[in-house]
Amino acid sequence: MSVDLSTSIAGVKLPNLFFNASGVWCQQEAELTELLNSESGSLITKSATFEPREGNPSPRYLPLEHGSINSMGLPNEGYEYYLEYAKKYDYNNAKPLFISLSGLKLEDNIQMVTKFVEADLPCILEVNFSCPNVPGKPQLGYDMEGMAKALRTLAPIIKKPFGIKLPPYFDIVHFDQVAEICNSVDNLAFVTCVNSVGNGLAIDFETETVAIKPKDGFGGLGGQMILNTALANVNAFARRLKNGKQVIGVGGVTSGKEAFLHVLAGASAVQIGTQLKEEGPQFFARVKKELEDIMVAKGYKSLDDFRGKVKTL
Ligand code: SIN
Repeated sequence: MSVDLSTSIAGVKLPNLFFNASGVWCQQEAELTELLNSESGSLITKSATFEPREGNPSPRYLPLEHGSINSMGLPNEGYEYYLEYAKKYDYNNAKPLFISLSGLKLEDNIQMVTKFVEADLPCILEVNFSCPNVPGKPQLGYDMEGMAKALRTLAPIIKKPFGIKLPPYFDIVHFDQVAEICNSVDNLAFVTCVNSVGNGLAIDFETETVAIKPKDGFGGLGGQMILNTALANVNAFARRLKNGKQVIGVGGVTSGKEAFLHVLAGASAVQIGTQLKEEGPQFFARVKKELEDIMVAKGYKSLDDFRGKVKTL
């Protein structure tokens, strides 16, 4: 039996559901080329700020026993670099291109999305409301009024379907509030859940020292340890979003099994962060094969057969 891993996001077809989480393997063109040459179904660029940024001091990423911690601080080449990349991207390629934007203030996001709109490209924008690692800049996703204002401002400029990257939420009331905001924006086509679990702290038992340098060691947690938080957020938004709005799942996928669970929870596509960083782009071939094997074993032919169909007791 052959199985179909294809999906559509914001009306655009992806040959399979997997791509990188913004921030991993996507800051420079050489890395993006490696993603293109991999078995990913798409690719997204590093969250761009208006100006290029060095990011936070190193060490700023460390794999942990059950995941990772990072406080990268949005190192990126500046939005013009990614706009030029998007202009020369071959859209006949089967892989659609997603562009992540993370302005440090609303005015920056307005200017960046305006430039992309003026360029009139088929790439899909994912606006990042959830970087936990820029000192002095709280995550917009935790400021309901600020997020609603940003969406009300940006959506009419973007006009086309677009998405936002959300932080993890931990309270049912917050799921309700954020979903209501999202449902009020017609051309918001998807939410990506979740960014890293912000401001964790890893301490080495032997050296009695924190794991990373920025922010006295505080950083975003990713990988296996956040799987259940990610699944909860995917499912919470899949249940609440209306009018065909979709969820892209990210968090804790180390094999086809966790990818299966993300789809079961309601994900329409799955992004890979920590495991891609650790294993490299060849991970996409492995995770695809593992998910295909699971689907064959369970008798599912397409993602639609089980998407969002998690059973409750
Ligand atoms: C970073 O660059 O600090 C990570 C980006 C993010 O978490 O949005």
